[in-house]
Amino acid sequence: MKPTLGIESSCDEMAAAVVRGREILASVVHAQTDVHEPYGGVVPELASRDHARCVSQVVARALADAGLKPADLGGVAVTAGPGLVGSLLVGLCFGKAFAARHALPLVGVHHVAGHLASAELADPALVAPYLGLVVSGGHTALYRIEADAAPALLAETRDDAVGEAFDKVAKLLGLPYPGGPALARLAESGDERAIAFPRPMAHGAQQGFSYSGLKTAVAIELERRLGGRPANALPERERADIAASFQAAATDVLVSKARRLLAREGLGQLAIVGGVAANQRLRRVVEAAAREDGFRAVFPPLALCTDNAAMIAAAGARRLARGERDALDLGAFARAPIPALARASAGVA
Ligand code: KG4
Ligand code: ZN
Repeated sequence: MKPTLGIESSCDEMAAAVVRGREILASVVHAQTDVHEPYGGVVPELASRDHARCVSQVVARALADAGLKPADLGGVAVTAGPGLVGSLLVGLCFGKAFAARHALPLVGVHHVAGHLASAELADPALVAPYLGLVVSGGHTALYRIEADAAPALLAETRDDAVGEAFDKVAKLLGLPYPGGPALARLAESGDERAIAFPRPMAHGAQQGFSYSGLKTAVAIELERRLGGRPANALPERERADIAASFQAAATDVLVSKARRLLAREGLGQLAIVGGVAANQRLRRVVEAAAREDGFRAVFPPLALCTDNAAMIAAAGARRLARGERDALDLGAFARAPIPALARASAGVA
């Protein structure tokens, strides 16, 4: 089996990786934290300009780290969406040109199918069927994963994604970008029972998630305490309690919904993927639930949780192995459900 080159540039990371089966031969991620930090969030135009500056070096570095030449590859997998279209186009155009120049087959990968593939890449014992929980800056959804079918959407957010809620609440608390990890760090010293924030749609019959109400509840609580003063006017202890109470509400909802769907679907394995899977509180409560209910929880290592190209190569390799190909007119897309594009690419060939 020849290795696959993966390219990912859907947001503010330019990444390239080489993967053979479940083996990661090289994985390079060029982050842009310093580019966006002054603005408190990702500036799309700056993201794509930085991608354009470094895409060829990142790909060259991945090949060099793997000790491979283009001729050693079996194909190229590149994220086609969803994401920032300007950012996506940089990786997509480079991937197409690279594939054409070296006469390699090309496949587009759905970013979420990539995240789902990271679990099988990380854990060889994980075999479908299982429940996949995608928690990132753009997605909050539960999928049923079967060996030879498209990931089937069971539940998703009606408004904000959980990572987006972490980032927005971090901003309200006056924390620096990127907010999610900073909020998680602040929460470590807080009391998560200090404030009973709402846990929207955690119980009851509804299938979806909702995070905008929780974010608003934090904003109201902060306004009540601050009365117009800046967030850093609050004592550190109070900010930590708010962070911890928000984090508890945000992650409890994920766990209760996943437990319910595991039972309903008769599944014994849960894979948690995407940037928010790096959250230690989420890991603790999922592991406690797994012990209690008797399911197996799989968390990829941190480097595979946040955006990376190894997961894209792994998802793309599945499509390549089935003989699927995309033409050079493959377009980037800002939003779309996991389409025919990513048919069953959640697994690893
Ligand atoms: O998967 P990812 O790298 O990019 C997207 O596809 O969105 O996820 C990034 C998201 C951001 O919202 C970030 O704040 C969040 O993951 N995140 C965290 C943690 N680390 C990253 N959220 C909570 N706790 C963390 N430790
Ligand atoms: Zn992502």
